[in-house]
Amino acid sequence: MSPRRNLNLAFAGLGTVGQGVWRHLSERSAELQARMGIAFTLYKAAVRDPSKTRDPSIPAERLTTNAMALAEDPEVDVLCELMGGTEEALAVTRTALERGKTVVTANKALLCHHGEELFRLARDKGAHIYFEASVAGGIPIIKALREGLVVNRFPLIYGILNGTCNYILTRMEREGQPFEAIVGDARRLGYVEADEALDLDGLDAAHKTAIVAYLAHGKWIPLEEMPVEGIRGVRLEDIQWAQSLGYKIKLLAVILRDFEGGSVFSSVQPMLVPRERMLANVDGVFNAISVTGDVVGESIYIGRGAGQDATASAVISDIVDAGTALANEILPEEPAQQTELRTSTPEQVIRSFYMRMSVRDQPGVLAEVATVLTRQNISIESVLQRPNGDRGAAHLVLTTHMSSEAAMTRAVAELEGLEALLDRPFLLRIADFAQHLG
Ligand code: NAP
Ligand code: HSE
Repeated sequence: MSPRRNLNLAFAGLGTVGQGVWRHLSERSAELQARMGIAFTLYKAAVRDPSKTRDPSIPAERLTTNAMALAEDPEVDVLCELMGGTEEALAVTRTALERGKTVVTANKALLCHHGEELFRLARDKGAHIYFEASVAGGIPIIKALREGLVVNRFPLIYGILNGTCNYILTRMEREGQPFEAIVGDARRLGYVEADEALDLDGLDAAHKTAIVAYLAHGKWIPLEEMPVEGIRGVRLEDIQWAQSLGYKIKLLAVILRDFEGGSVFSSVQPMLVPRERMLANVDGVFNAISVTGDVVGESIYIGRGAGQDATASAVISDIVDAGTALANEILPEEPAQQTELRTSTPEQVIRSFYMRMSVRDQPGVLAEVATVLTRQNISIESVLQRPNGDRGAAHLVLTTHMSSEAAMTRAVAELEGLEALLDRPFLLRIADFAQHLG
């Protein structure tokens, strides 16, 4: 049967993800054509260095160093932006959309910083933009939010969106080794991005969180309004003490919607997750997302959040969707309906906390700490005291009942003034969302 449509695909970038897409599309194009009625031609790819050995090997005449030329080429139907970064990738994506081409991108940083502009441009030009691979690699979470869960409103979405941090935290817990001992292995295995801050300081997860928040709530939350903290401050002792309290520590993206207050809050922070929760047991490089919809209830998505094949799987699903849309002349849809939501204030964000302090081991210190917390109306749930290795000093670890972020910030500022405190208090939030679900 002849295909309904033949699409020329161009790749701006043919690195880890691009080569995976090229290989799997080459191997499965006959199957895809039979199932979808669309034929794909691997037309051209732009790279920085055409002399590099690639797997699969690419005929020299298919390679160029000029990504912009592909965005401008009238022969190209779909431009797959798989080069990364936010400068040249932005220019190439803009140009392709301005010419009405379909764009498929895996670039979460690009969308977090320029998604609003790019989606508007796509709408104005009648062009499609697909981005399944930008969040959680092979997990089809974008499709789930846009299609499968379309009737829902989402009071709570939380998840593990960075495989590298999850790998490091998992190994720290399993092997009783500190962060510094494990991060080297993560680098050697190629998990850590060239710009390490993206992974270790939570930025990569924040980029993905912004995309999910936009899809779920129609608002691009600026990174400045999102508390973002990585895993460098998490000590092995925190993992062990959390364990003794019944929790595991995970780097969690959280998106909380307050429907009555008309606001939304999102954050990326290491958090204590109750051991019995499914996400507490998603380990290694895997990602997981829990989505609570007001109609469907909770659904959980788990899978490989990165890597060549998992990411290629998501990119190819976008390419096939692009083919179907173009073959059927389907007009582009807004990924989400824009809303005028505010970002929730710290007074509105209610959580329970884990706090580690290094204090003088002397009478009255616990009472002083308790007094400060009481002044802020923060109720202590549990207290652990552990020796910290220095004579006359101790670690004080406590958990609290629900309190606002604002109250806790005031309490920490006051605690820092205590003479008995030897270090800044280290705070983690507890992933107890019961009250957000009513
Ligand atoms: P990568 O391995 O570094 O590949 C980047 C590709 O872009 C390379 O082929 C490079 O050429 C090419 N390139 C870069 N700048 C260029 C320029 N100015 N002109 C022409 N070509 C250029 O990156 P990747 O891991 O495949 O990631 C691609 C995108 O997918 C990124 O946005 C990333 O965040 C996203 N992503 C990656 C994963 C993953 O697991 N890797 C998962 C989800 C999303 P050379 O090959 O010649 O250097
Ligand atoms: N650095 C990212 C991670 C890659 O570790 O999850 C996938 O986006």
